[in-house]
Amino acid sequence: MREVPGIEDFFGFAARLIRPTVFRSMMKVLVTGGAGYIGSVAVDALIDAGFDVVVFDNLYMGHREAVNPEAAFIEGDLADKAAVDAAFAEHKPQAVMHFASYSLVGESVENPLKYLGDNVTNGLNLLSAVLDHGVERFILSSTANLFDQPETIPISENETLIPGSPYGESKAIIERYLFWLQKTKGLRYAALRYFNAAGCTEVKGEDHTPETHLIPLVIQVALGQREKIMIFGDDYDTPDGTCVRDYIHVADLAQAHILALKALDTNESLHYNLGNGAGFSVKEVIETVREVSGHPIPAEITPRRAGDPAILVGDSTKIRKELGWDPQFGDLKPIVESAWKWHSAHPEGYGS
Ligand code: UFG
Repeated sequence: MREVPGIEDFFGFAARLIRPTVFRSMMKVLVTGGAGYIGSVAVDALIDAGFDVVVFDNLYMGHREAVNPEAAFIEGDLADKAAVDAAFAEHKPQAVMHFASYSLVGESVENPLKYLGDNVTNGLNLLSAVLDHGVERFILSSTANLFDQPETIPISENETLIPGSPYGESKAIIERYLFWLQKTKGLRYAALRYFNAAGCTEVKGEDHTPETHLIPLVIQVALGQREKIMIFGDDYDTPDGTCVRDYIHVADLAQAHILALKALDTNESLHYNLGNGAGFSVKEVIETVREVSGHPIPAEITPRRAGDPAILVGDSTKIRKELGWDPQFGDLKPIVESAWKWHSAHPEGYGS
């Protein structure tokens, strides 16, 4: 027999209907790079939390299919100042999350001006629109590549900023712009320094062309799409000689963005390192993919890749304490499992 809903059910139902509407009317967020790997997961999290979202993405690395259907989508390039201005004029966001940028350490060493030039000028076009249109909150995707010579590991926010590559420098420059825009114009901002973003959600995954990141490349070997994985150097000063990184799940990064956005109600500027506080070597990552996938992974040692620091492990005590950030994927294995699941189900990625 069908149960008759009680009064609590009715109020619960009504609250579920009303709550997103209330948040939506409160804040619209423009997300640059919202079709990309990390940005698309953040967009899903924003929509789940009840925000209104506008994605601005040139689809250079992103995928139209990765954009949540509840978000408005503008195919636009941050290099086109008029297009950026038009997006702000039309959608009137109250906050910006800035994911769109070139983000490859190795490429930035080979082509520094793509980073010291384009990443910076695109960021400036965005910041000009932010000021011109009175946006008061800005969240920057920053990076662990700000810490090339850490004195203490895991790396806390007190560490001296020494960018490790033109990529890291481009983020350091934008962090400095934000510092001054806060002082002079009152722009509230959070700089979130990601360690190594990894893993997939049930619906969103990592699909770069070309792929250069370790976990998806090793998974390609497991899927038979690539013959072997190249290990870029085994002569680092680390336990097994290969580079050590702190892998942090994209869904956990997305949650940090939501917390930071809300915290800007009462904070003028925030700087947080986002990592799990545990390092895994390249060889350990390969071994974990072997274990999770059950496939052999042929590997070959090659020379070091320019710009790679030996060890990057983050201390995220500050955001855990101050904002209650609580990463759900605390270990490498579940992160790799989530990636293996998505890549096995989508061997051609988004297919676009
Ligand atoms: N690696 C290999 N073989 C490969 C690919 C990578 O040995 O085929 C190694 C790299 O040398 C590095 C590690 O695997 O030691 C991880 O490399 P990724 O390319 O996956 O990631 P990166 O550490 O170079 O950089 C990533 C992001 C940056 C960010 C940085 C923060 O791409 O944007 O994490 O730690 F700045």
